[in-house]
Parts: sequence; C-alpha cells; structure tokens
Amino acid sequence: MHTEKKTIEQDLNTPYFMIDESKLIVNLEQCKQLKRLSGAKLVLALKCFSTWGTFETIKPYLDGTTSSGPYEVKLGHENFGGETHAYSVGYSKADIEAVKPLADKIIFNSLSQLDTHYSNCVDSASLGLRINPERSVAGQDLADPARPYSRLGVKQENLDLSVLDKVEGFMFHMNCENKDADAFIAILDYISATFSDYLDKLKWLSLGGGIFFTYPGYPIEKLALALKTFSEKYAIQLYLEPGEAIITRTADLVVSVIDIVENVKKTAIVDSATEAHRLDTLIYKEPACVLEAAENGQFPYVIGSCSCLAGDQFCETQFEQPLQIGQKLHLIDSAGYTMVKLNWFNGLKMPSIYFKRLDNTIELLAEFSYQDYKNSLGNH
Ligand SMILES: Cc1ncc(COP(=O)(O)O)c(C=O)c1O
Repeated sequence: MHTEKKTIEQDLNTPYFMIDESKLIVNLEQCKQLKRLSGAKLVLALKCFSTWGTFETIKPYLDGTTSSGPYEVKLGHENFGGETHAYSVGYSKADIEAVKPLADKIIFNSLSQLDTHYSNCVDSASLGLRINPERSVAGQDLADPARPYSRLGVKQENLDLSVLDKVEGFMFHMNCENKDADAFIAILDYISATFSDYLDKLKWLSLGGGIFFTYPGYPIEKLALALKTFSEKYAIQLYLEPGEAIITRTADLVVSVIDIVENVKKTAIVDSATEAHRLDTLIYKEPACVLEAAENGQFPYVIGSCSCLAGDQFCETQFEQPLQIGQKLHLIDSAGYTMVKLNWFNGLKMPSIYFKRLDNTIELLAEFSYQDYKNSLGNH
C-alpha cells in the first residue's frame, strides 16, 4: 500500500505545491496550546494562506478568519466559518454592501472610513478601528506597518475617546515574522501604557499577525502569560491573526530541472519562476531553500527560473552530485504568501496544489489549464 502511494507522488507532473497535513497539525497543536494558556482567539489571516481545500483540517483548531478584501471575507465566511473578521485598507460603498451580511467584525483603517460607513454598518457587525502604534518588529521596510508616512491605521495623536461611541474594538498589526517574544511583549506593554483609557472600555482587541510562535524554540508559555495578563487587566477579548505561523514549514513547491546553462556559474533552470509562483522570494530578496541541497556539497548551482526576468532566481546552493535534467527539486517552506499570489506571467504553467493527508494519500486540490490563463485575460 505504502509503495503504491509513493509511486503516485513520484509520478506527479511539476510544478506543484505539496502541502503536508501532518506538518500542518504540528503547528495547529501549538495554536491550540496558545489558545488554551492565553484565552486569546486565533483567526487565520487569509491573505497569507487561503487554500480552502485544507480548511477542514484547520477549522477545529481556530476561531475563524480575517481578511483584507471582500473576496477573502466571502471565502472565509463560506468555507471556514466561525468568526469572520473583515478588514480593508479602503472599503468602497460596494465593498461594504458585499461584506456586511458576511462579517461578524468590520475593521476600518482610518477615521474617515469609519465615519463614511458607520451608519451603514453599525447594526450589522461589531465595528473596529486599526491603530498604528508607531512601534513594530518587521525586518524589512516594505513590510513595516510603522514605517514613516505609513497609511496603515490611526496614530494616537489623531484619536480621542469619542471614537468609543462608534467602535467596540481596535486592531493593531505591527509584527512581521517576529521570533522574539520579549520584543512583542515590549510593544504590548507600550500599547497598555499608551492606550489604557481606550482599552478599559473596548470589548475586543486584535493584535494582528506576524508573531512567529510556531518557530522552533519560541517560548509559547511566556507569550500566553503576557496575553492572559493583558486581557484580564482590561477585561478584553484578545485576538491574534496568524498567517505564516500556521503554515510555516508545511509545504514544498516541487519543480523539475529543465536545462543547465553556464556563464561563469552553472544555472539549473527549473519549470517555475519566483515572479509567478513564489513572489516573495523576489520582493523580499529572501532566497528559497532546496531540500536536496547539501551544505558542503561540491557542485554549486544557481537555481534559476524559466521566466524572462534576468534576475529571477530562487537561490544559489550546492549539491553532493551534479544536477540532472528532469530531476525534481523541493523548494521547502513554500506555503505562505505563495498560492495566494500566483499569477500567469509569461504564460507559464501554473503549479497544481496537492494535499498529503495523514494516511499518506495525496489529494489534488487544484489544477489549472490554458483556459484558466486565457480567462484571466478576458472572458467575454
Ligand atoms: C492586518 C494583518 N493581520 C495579519 C497578518 C498576517 O501576518 P502573518 O502572516 O505574518 O502572521 C497581516 C500580514 O500582513 C496583516 O497585515
């Protein structure tokens, strides 16, 4: 039985994503522990991972979803359930009409958005406002919500207590892959010191995503204690909005070597592209890791993409043996901000998405055709 299933995996055509349910459950068990110890609720940030074929596995562990745009709200409401939080940097009137019947909480990014939509929404959902605490832990300026001139959230100097006539909750999001519990707790203490007048009266507070509590060695108990103490102090329901923490290290992007070219360095060209299938590798200049690579391997390669963009490469790494054309490579940790950002640049073949279940069976969650490409460019 085992051999038959393995054969199926080997036979799959690249490129494809392979999400591993057993690895997902390892992260989800940590979510469960954090919830139990802290009393905080956890909502999945769909912007990071929306592959809804896996939601049956994730649902029992989390409280719902949070979103960044109207389609994510709909997906979360229809396919995940639980609490549906709707946040957007900017809602049009039409967006609000779409979101209103689906969302339990609607969170506005600015006071002007709150004023514009307040009377239309107040009877449909618990309303919230995003606050910019002007503190953050984010490695890169591009992903730093507290960067100079940030458009994300209202600064304390522009707030007054009258906002509490309109909102029941605040949302702060100021971390990006923050592995340092003390650094998070320092911001939490700052929020407590700066916003206590508001916190005393609010019903709920979301502390956003970017807290990397599933990173190996992260002190979950310490984080949980800080959250519990905070929520008891203000008698407030806390939420976290994890994305990456939930699906980190759960999926590979599997590609094949198509060609090997040499220009001082050897480049193995694979049947995928960062620009189309793993965009953050390009945007954040964070090289991918290849499962088959060996730290002290004698055969170095650039793992190059098959897009036309000159600088489009996954990484530079080395192997114990020369790479062969047709060989599969696994680009590990490829779940977050990948499938949600896939695009059709260069008319490349879109990766299929597979889910390896606990019993090792492999479920096809998505495959894409020429017609999908064509439809993305015109369907009338
Ligand atoms: C408002 C908000 N919540 C949650 C998240 C999820 O963050 P992460 O995937 O780093 O946990 C983000 C990411 O940008 C965000 O902007």
